[in-house]
Amino acid sequence: MKILLCGKGGSGKSTVAALLAKNLQLEGYRVLVVDVDESNYGLSSQLGLADPRELIEQIGGKSEVKSKMGVVRSDGHKAPVFSETWNIDNIPSECLSKKDNLYLLQIGKVKHYGEGCACPMGVLSKDFVTNLSLEPMDIAVIDTEAGVEHLGRSVAAGVDLILGIIDPSYESIRLSEKMSAMAKESKKPIQFIINKAEDAFADRIISRIGKERVIGIIPFSKSVQEKGFAGEALDANSLNIADITRFILCIQNRRVSPIDRMGDLKWSR
Ligand SMILES: Nc1ncnc2c1ncn2[C@@H]1O[C@H](COP(=O)(O)OP(=O)(O)OP(=O)(O)O)[C@@H](O)[C@H]1O
Ligand SMILES: [Mg+2]
Repeated sequence: MKILLCGKGGSGKSTVAALLAKNLQLEGYRVLVVDVDESNYGLSSQLGLADPRELIEQIGGKSEVKSKMGVVRSDGHKAPVFSETWNIDNIPSECLSKKDNLYLLQIGKVKHYGEGCACPMGVLSKDFVTNLSLEPMDIAVIDTEAGVEHLGRSVAAGVDLILGIIDPSYESIRLSEKMSAMAKESKKPIQFIINKAEDAFADRIISRIGKERVIGIIPFSKSVQEKGFAGEALDANSLNIADITRFILCIQNRRVSPIDRMGDLKWSR
């Protein structure tokens, strides 16, 4: 199962990605975290893993990917920039940071002033995620950059579920509408997680986005904020995300499309 996290800047995408990955690992799964955020560096620290060699470097650098973009095949379709089908076992080891059954792969980061747009990373992210092959006990958690540009680039094409992270802000609510519309266009199921919200605020957010859309509420935590500030790793239990983990496992184990499962799942707090 491949899960894509998206949401407004600072809403908690990387925090939830790290916590979800660690909780799923504790449940016995191999978890590959794919960092497709080309700007931020925090995810590896939140996971407690070193930064691996970037995939884009491994396959020849940004200019190499750029040269493949826009190449049209004889059938009239654009050729992919990355056509390998990799699974966790055959990803080159230098491209993975690993601890037990938790793995991290980074697509590539913007490093230099004036280096140009991040389109090569976006296209590579889409191709890598789409081609990624997972075993039954594997789950991929894909952490994206802020906003919806990756949805505009159809990075979600190969995923099974989109999770929108909503913090208590006007911008997040607006973005949730945009994300829902884009998920519908891509025919991908989307659910939301409310983060950094206390009960009263969470209820107000729920009344705006709909109860059946929310799979978990994560309160604000002073200790998580401290760890975030210090760049320290999170533990699986740094925040209680049992509802969210249960939801994911329910889908994973039943092997039913999340769209079909939505109606059955009870929302709980
Ligand atoms: N529930 C929470 N309680 C307290 N602090 C939190 C919580 N969730 C996230 N944070 C803090 O908020 C900050 C932003 O979180 P995070 O980096 O996960 O957001 P993001 O959506 O990935 O941001 P970006 O869009 O920049 O990648 C971090 O300092 C993190 O520690
Ligand atoms: Mg982030």
